[in-house]
Amino acid sequence: MSDNIDPRGAAASDVLVRLDSVSRRYTRGSSSVVALDSVSLDVRRGEMVALIGPSGCGKSTCLNLIAGIDRPDEGRALVLGVDLARASESELVLLRRRKIGIVFQAFHLVPHLSVAENVALPLAIDGKRDPARVAELVARVGLAARASHFPGELSGGEEQRTAVARALVHRPLLVVADEPTGNLDSSSGEAVLALLDELRAETGAALVVATHDARVAARASRVIRLRDGRVEVPACS
Ligand SMILES: Nc1ncnc2c1ncn2[C@@H]1O[C@H](COP(=O)(O)OP(=O)(O)OP(=O)(O)O)[C@@H](O)[C@H]1O
Ligand SMILES: [Mg+2]
Repeated sequence: MSDNIDPRGAAASDVLVRLDSVSRRYTRGSSSVVALDSVSLDVRRGEMVALIGPSGCGKSTCLNLIAGIDRPDEGRALVLGVDLARASESELVLLRRRKIGIVFQAFHLVPHLSVAENVALPLAIDGKRDPARVAELVARVGLAARASHFPGELSGGEEQRTAVARALVHRPLLVVADEPTGNLDSSSGEAVLALLDELRAETGAALVVATHDARVAARASRVIRLRDGRVEVPACS
């Protein structure tokens, strides 16, 4: 009826991410690893997509594209309307800074900043301040009593929760999380998942999570399984 309905049945305005036959190779000298091989997938507003598959299958590589950190070698990657292959570096920086929240597999907290300062970072680098929002998120991940501590004084799970709060503080449209419950016991893991879910409900953000955790995959609206850099098609669907 209208041209913003695409052939796959979703309203185009609801498609936040579209990977179309995307490939990514890592080359060093004469050796080359095909980390993603002709991957196509969409992520729509408000959904939670779980990327699963064995170690080395390409989950983090795929998330790096969806987060606008990396660019494809082949194929087309559109993230929040930005074509990653054509965008300038500064466009990608602004895209990530303003619209995307990222929880890295290795956290990447800034060691000389406190928990609260780390959480405030996405606002601060965009010239904004919102101490109430920062305090709210620090409390929602259960770290109010640790707000002035430094990452070196935190447990792995506390660092992970700080990274989750930091990814949500600026109310991004798209949240990308690499193993967000990887270092958490089951009750902290549940709390982090509940927070990610709440944010999705509050803002209509989409959430893409790479995970080995069956609890995370069970919560997802859609599960995409990768194997050897390819999307595995279910035997029956
Ligand atoms: N910077 C890099 N240079 C060379 N090869 C890389 C690089 N990053 C990833 N790879 C390779 O690409 C493939 C996919 O890696 P990726 O990190 O995406 O896997 P993953 O599914 O996230 O694994 P895990 O579950 O262990 O985190 C692997 O074979 C990996 O060795
Ligand atoms: Mg990974």
